Amino acid sequence: MKNRDLLTFICSCTFILSAFCTTSSATAAETPIPCISITDSSGAQQSTYAPGDSLIYTVTFPLEQQSLLLFTASVRFPDNNVDRTKLYVSLSEQEKSVCWTGTVPDDAAGRAEVVVTSLILPGKFVIARKDFEVSRSGDDRDNPSFICSACHGDNYRGWKETRHYPAVGCELCHGSGQNHITAPSSDTISIPTGDICNTCHSGNDGTVIEASNGFINAQQQRNELEDTAHGSVADCCTCHNPHYSPSNNKASAIKLTCRQCHPQKDVYLNMQSLDCEDCHMAPAVSKGDSSGSGLYKKGDTPSHLFRIKTEAAADTFLTPDGTAASKDIHGPFLTVDRACLHCHNGFDAGLQTFDSVQQTSTIVH
Ligand code: HEC
Ligand code: HEC
Ligand code: HEC
Ligand code: HEC
Ligand code: HEC
Ligand code: HEC
Ligand code: HEC
Repeated sequence: MKNRDLLTFICSCTFILSAFCTTSSATAAETPIPCISITDSSGAQQSTYAPGDSLIYTVTFPLEQQSLLLFTASVRFPDNNVDRTKLYVSLSEQEKSVCWTGTVPDDAAGRAEVVVTSLILPGKFVIARKDFEVSRSGDDRDNPSFICSACHGDNYRGWKETRHYPAVGCELCHGSGQNHITAPSSDTISIPTGDICNTCHSGNDGTVIEASNGFINAQQQRNELEDTAHGSVADCCTCHNPHYSPSNNKASAIKLTCRQCHPQKDVYLNMQSLDCEDCHMAPAVSKGDSSGSGLYKKGDTPSHLFRIKTEAAADTFLTPDGTAASKDIHGPFLTVDRACLHCHNGFDAGLQTFDSVQQTSTIVH
């Protein structure tokens, strides 16, 4: 990390000082002892950290006057002996602390130590140390997928942040990795096609899109996709990288975006900044956490129907008995109440009526 990056961190890490370094008021003014704090990426101090965690290291110098500061810091991890040494030069003014970030190596376990050696001018050398525990949490060590993390750290870390973690593990999709681990190569492991997703993201025989309480039921993406225009050109993995979560790492999770296949689809009516998904994947699916009522219903999960049937009458999204999504000869569709009114409800955007969104829906593009 360059000094320039470091300085930007200085401002953003003051909260950590007040939280964890309050005891280090300088009693011996000539040799102030720096305080080292270690937190996770959200700024919270943990009793142990796991391989793959991003850590923030903060060193606070209880300086009482403006001083020139030179220091090196290294983090020693036990098993693999990784030493990360940094050299920083910084003039302290208001800021009395320096932080930097690092990642716990995938194969680290045991006691790790941060050592900071600093020269404070005017003054002298001070060395401060702080150790912390790295352990594969029970969850991780026992998880059958953990063994894959040693060589596929990125996939593993991404997967850990999806809702597939911890149960839908690597081998559920890739098959047994036993031979692969003893002889790692592309020939000893299988790569599934997008069809593997249908095992769990499909209901009934895949044809009827079941609904209840005014929403499409959860975990039926295959049923939703099947009869749409996309059903014949895309499977789940055309758009999804299954190792990442769309809700917390969309850039990695969606490998092919709408715009890449539909370039130059301009949006008008003051809605240029919306995502395509806001309308075309409107939350018409519910796991049980829905809001709104009447035509302003809002589910908790994006749908996979994409087509907006602008001419459809209000509240015809589901069949009259409410047990399935309606279909016409082109397959299932969103009505404009579902596509637009989850936002135009007076909270997320101005309140509009069904008639007004229906009239303007044909001039969105
Ligand atoms: C000791 C290291 C190691 C471990 C452990 C390991 N792999 Fe691999 N894996 C490799 C190597 C090396 C390759 C080949 C990479 C290449 O060809 O680019 C590979 C390739 C793969 C591929 C891609 C094959 C392809 O054709 O691109 C998959 C999928 C895979 N591993 C899954 C797993 C899973 C699942 C586990 C855990 C059960 C696992 N690996 C454990 C080293 C490992
Ligand atoms: C939900 C099913 C699923 C799970 C769970 C899963 N994978 Fe995959 N994996 C796939 C599919 C499908 C592909 C093919 C790539 C694609 O189409 O995007 C793939 C490709 C890969 C590849 C080769 C391409 C790449 O992305 O690097 C590796 C390596 C890999 N997986 C490792 C893992 C490891 C390690 C885990 C567990 C941490 C894991 N996978 C969990 C479905 C899965
Ligand atoms: C063994 C069952 C199973 C398989 C196979 C499976 N999934 Fe899942 N998937 C689940 C479950 C369970 C959830 C969590 C549902 C929830 O909490 O809403 C989930 C959630 C997801 C999520 C949301 C993740 C998040 O964190 O936001 C995506 C995206 C997803 N699956 C895509 C896929 C894709 C793509 C495939 C095929 C490569 C696939 N799944 C295969 C069971 C599975
Ligand atoms: C045309 C591209 C495309 C296809 C094909 C596709 N998806 Fe998605 N999917 C997306 C996008 C984009 C999102 C994120 C939507 C958002 O953020 O509003 C998403 C979100 C999801 C989610 C997350 C829902 C949540 O709870 O946040 C799941 C689960 C999912 N897709 C599963 C699947 C499965 C399973 C398939 C195959 C049957 C599939 N998708 C096919 C583009 C696609
Ligand atoms: C793999 C490329 C691909 C991706 C990714 C993709 N589409 Fe499409 N889309 C198509 C094709 C092909 C068609 C059918 C031919 C056409 O109408 O252009 C289509 C059709 C559509 C239609 C018309 C549906 C109908 O039944 O008339 C809409 C709306 C649409 N896409 C929106 C989206 C949105 C929104 C996204 C992103 C979430 C997206 N597409 C992602 C390729 C793609
Ligand atoms: C404000 C809501 C909204 C947003 C945002 C939006 N669309 Fe649309 N889109 C619509 C509506 C409504 C229609 C149907 C228009 C009609 O039938 O006259 C439509 C139609 C389409 C069609 C099918 C009609 C055709 O021209 O073939 C595609 C493809 C499409 N949109 C892609 C996209 C893409 C890509 C994005 C993101 C860049 C996007 N849309 C953003 C509302 C939206
Ligand atoms: C993700 C939320 C969202 C969705 C979905 C959405 N809009 Fe909007 N819309 C906005 C915002 C935000 C504005 C600009 C400010 C405002 O009106 O609150 C806007 C503005 C508009 C305007 C201009 C109003 C004005 O007074 O300038 C029209 C018309 C409109 N939307 C129609 C639609 C239609 C039709 C759809 C569905 C096809 C739709 N919107 C879907 C958020 C949304």
